[in-house]
Amino acid sequence: MESSPAVQQRANGTRDAFRQDVLNGLAYSAKRVPSKYLYDKRGSELFDRICQLDEYYLTRCELEIMERFAPEMGQQIGPGVMLVEYGSGSSVKTRYLLDGLPDPVAYVPLDISDEHLHQTARELAPDYQAIEVLPVCADFMQDFKLPTPERKPTHTAVYFPGSTIGNLNPTRSARLLGRICQLCGSGGGLLIGVDLKKDVRRIEAAYNDREGVTAQFTLNLLRRINRELDADFDLEAFSHRAKYNEPRGRVEIGLVSHRDQTVHIGDETFAFAEGEFIHTEYSHKYTIDEFAGLAAGAGLALHRQWTDKGENLAVLHFAVNDAH
Ligand code: AVJ
Repeated sequence: MESSPAVQQRANGTRDAFRQDVLNGLAYSAKRVPSKYLYDKRGSELFDRICQLDEYYLTRCELEIMERFAPEMGQQIGPGVMLVEYGSGSSVKTRYLLDGLPDPVAYVPLDISDEHLHQTARELAPDYQAIEVLPVCADFMQDFKLPTPERKPTHTAVYFPGSTIGNLNPTRSARLLGRICQLCGSGGGLLIGVDLKKDVRRIEAAYNDREGVTAQFTLNLLRRINRELDADFDLEAFSHRAKYNEPRGRVEIGLVSHRDQTVHIGDETFAFAEGEFIHTEYSHKYTIDEFAGLAAGAGLALHRQWTDKGENLAVLHFAVNDAH
């Protein structure tokens, strides 16, 4: 039974998928674990704390942009839209956008967490009674079906805030942008938050906060593996590391093993050498031109751009290129 009839699909984020992804990822010579697994309950709470840190400029800058320009964005997107948000935000950004949209038909939050979705729907629906709120539980990296609102939308637009696209490398980003293009189809659009290239110290500070919240966030992945996959990672024997790789334009985030050690996950054993790295996340940074180029290759034409006063982050509006 679905926990709610409103949730039309179930993500395949099951325990088995988690186990398989972790075992596969740790079998590579360059060990890795997919970043989506950082967001269990505790991980999501820690991420919320990250968003409030002095050093983590991203959330504040994007809020500044949304607060100021949401009405312009709403005009740009146009009336009658079905707005699909990737990574359901129960957030303030979403509200700014919904408030700026002229006569939106439906709001479709998309998330791998049922719990998040329900919270979003519960919180938003009462304040937006003229909009159909139709949550979908799915992984936006995989195929999913859009719901059919009772009132027919004139077009579909994807809202992808938070610079979450930065988690993907350029190849996978281009693939995702192509899928967004197909999902929205003719007349569709994309509104996306993208963190911009800037002073290296500023970037690295955002991922190495003084309070160590980001370190806890990364280490929480091992805690989750221990709890859910019957593993015995010693959390004291690994540290968070985040370094900006300038030529590749990305922060490389993960955990470093303090010493030679072995770890058990269920029946499997993994060896870690002193100094060995488990990669957990990328955070790619772009110039607006770089990102627009990537999107153009996927069939999206840049129509408008907005930045915060400090030009740290951009919110970009793309239209689906019919000729593509
Ligand atoms: C959610 C992917 C945008 O890359 O800034 C923040 C994730 N990880 N601190 C980012 C994150 C550590 C965040 N994104």
